Amino acid sequence: MRVISKRPEGQPTRGKTAPHRLRRVDNFLLLYAANLLRRLDGDFARAFYVDLGFGAEPVTTLESAQCFRPINPTLPVLGVEIDRERVTAALPFANEITHFRLGGFNLPLFRQPNGALEPVRLIRAFNVLRQYEESAVADAYRRLGSYLLPGGLLIEGTSDPTGRIWVANLLRKPALGDGDTPLQTEALVFSTNFRDGFDPGIFQTRLPKNYIHRVVPGELVYDFFQAWKQAALETLPIQVWGPRQWFMASAQALAARGYRVALQRKWLRRGYLLWQPSR
Ligand SMILES: C[S@@+](CC[C@H](N)C(=O)[O-])C[C@H]1O[C@@H](n2cnc3c(N)ncnc32)[C@H](O)[C@@H]1O
Repeated sequence: MRVISKRPEGQPTRGKTAPHRLRRVDNFLLLYAANLLRRLDGDFARAFYVDLGFGAEPVTTLESAQCFRPINPTLPVLGVEIDRERVTAALPFANEITHFRLGGFNLPLFRQPNGALEPVRLIRAFNVLRQYEESAVADAYRRLGSYLLPGGLLIEGTSDPTGRIWVANLLRKPALGDGDTPLQTEALVFSTNFRDGFDPGIFQTRLPKNYIHRVVPGELVYDFFQAWKQAALETLPIQVWGPRQWFMASAQALAARGYRVALQRKWLRRGYLLWQPSR
């Protein structure tokens, strides 16, 4: 294998992370993308789960590996950091199937003997783009998407420091796509473990970069929050049964207003609201 030497694209940012911070993201992926994590056909046999921007310690990458390997014991995991010292600190935790490399949005992938880059099935970028300008988001998606195998997934989002609350974009590489095929938005996911109660407003400050500055009249996400707040008000009596029941009822009321939200109990009772944003 030959190393592709290239300057990492992006900028080093604060490395704050914590054990269990992204555990709910791992649990969500186990439910949402189990087949993708499990696949062993063709290029998928060697395809990475990439944790982009793992931070000061590689703890969340190692937790992902531990969470996903029960369903795919040989899943290759790659933690990527743009900060050299953070990569050095992670290297003692590497093994034959868990790797840590210096890199950026242009992922540090090796050229295989057949000339193709190492394949990638799923990329998680959490609390990374939030520290960039909004204008950087589209290029980052384009670049990251170019590495995904057809059917692959990018989950890009923002969480609070504990990981109790997060919001993430789910973007899919079309099944018939090649390197240049743009990612398609599959959902915006709102996640809470209900420890902080429920109120649609708790998600507003955790929106990913492409939405955080757009909660203003005339924008899709503004209308969505207005509708969700209204739905929460309508269903307020359910609050006596607790925040989980209220959250679930508010999702039903949102759907009744025409919003494309997933109503399956497997999402809602676990505190995941999946919305397909479209005009
Ligand atoms: C706030 S930490 C997030 C750590 C972990 N993902 C979490 O959510 O707890 C963000 C990390 O992303 C890294 N980072 C920023 N831009 C990057 C890029 N383009 N490629 C790789 N890492 C990047 C920063 O160096 C920093 O360590």
